[in-house]
Amino acid sequence: EKAQGAIHRFPLIKVQGVPLMEHIAHNWSSIWAFRPDPSDILISTYPKAGTTWTQEIVDLLLNNGDAEVCKKAPIIARIPFLEIFSPPPIPSGLDLLKRMAPPRVIKTHLPLQLVPEGFWENKCKVIYVARNAKDNLVSYFHFDQMNLTQPEPGPWDQYIHKFMRGELAWGSWYDHVKGYWKEREKRNILYLFYEDMKENPHREVMRIMKYLDLSLPGDVIGRVVELTSFKAMKDNPMTNYSFIPKPVFDHSISPFMRKGEVGDWTNHFTPEQSQLFDEDYARQMEGTDIPFRTSI
Ligand code: A3P
Repeated sequence: EKAQGAIHRFPLIKVQGVPLMEHIAHNWSSIWAFRPDPSDILISTYPKAGTTWTQEIVDLLLNNGDAEVCKKAPIIARIPFLEIFSPPPIPSGLDLLKRMAPPRVIKTHLPLQLVPEGFWENKCKVIYVARNAKDNLVSYFHFDQMNLTQPEPGPWDQYIHKFMRGELAWGSWYDHVKGYWKEREKRNILYLFYEDMKENPHREVMRIMKYLDLSLPGDVIGRVVELTSFKAMKDNPMTNYSFIPKPVFDHSISPFMRKGEVGDWTNHFTPEQSQLFDEDYARQMEGTDIPFRTSI
């Protein structure tokens, strides 16, 4: 009874124009005040762009491909989610960070302008992962059904419009991907694409390794690629989010590790929806040159 009262689909409240879950908005001043250490590493994404996958790759790279390290604790305990505030007793991202000594890997979905200033002042390493809009939208649609703390997604046709209007948690996908893209060189952000990771995980793992100033032997890289395949992460209870209780994530509605593919959007969009989306996309992305791919 009590637990049910605590967990519900939280409304979104805007912080500087960006809709965020109620708990995040209410705690915004403490999130904004967070000071990272220069050695901390930030992984940033729009929700459902491949965050967990990248988290696991980074954690394994930092631990020399040691599978045991990554089996010890759920991904959310190893890599705190900066802005997350859940109802007690679930610890907030800031609580977890307080208990961990740098260097830490930190996850965020915040758009660039809401990332606490200390990350830029301290020149922290920042890895951004972007996923093509249509697949990102499809993944978010399924996630919003199974994550019972996110606003009700509603029917598919309306969800497409919410996405286009940036009315989902963490706001506009368009602004998100453009914000980091524009600043990537000036702020030394490693800008990755989900589609590239699917196409050639070995190449992208190497790219991340170099960005982190690591130099690991080929067999370690091979092991990291293997341990972070969709299948391996779906089967690993520390990465597949089965550790989140059912009143929060209901995997019977849709598993967190759902499909892990490029192009699943073709199974969801009707030709009319696709055309309407593309026309709006062209307007919203006008003047940008981010090389997104909707198929590989
Ligand atoms: P789908 O819903 O399309 O399957 P995030 O971690 O940002 O929430 O993203 C979740 C999405 O990434 C889901 O997409 C999930 O299946 C996919 N994913 C997670 N791990 C993956 C992996 N190792 N390889 C490919 N896709 C992965």
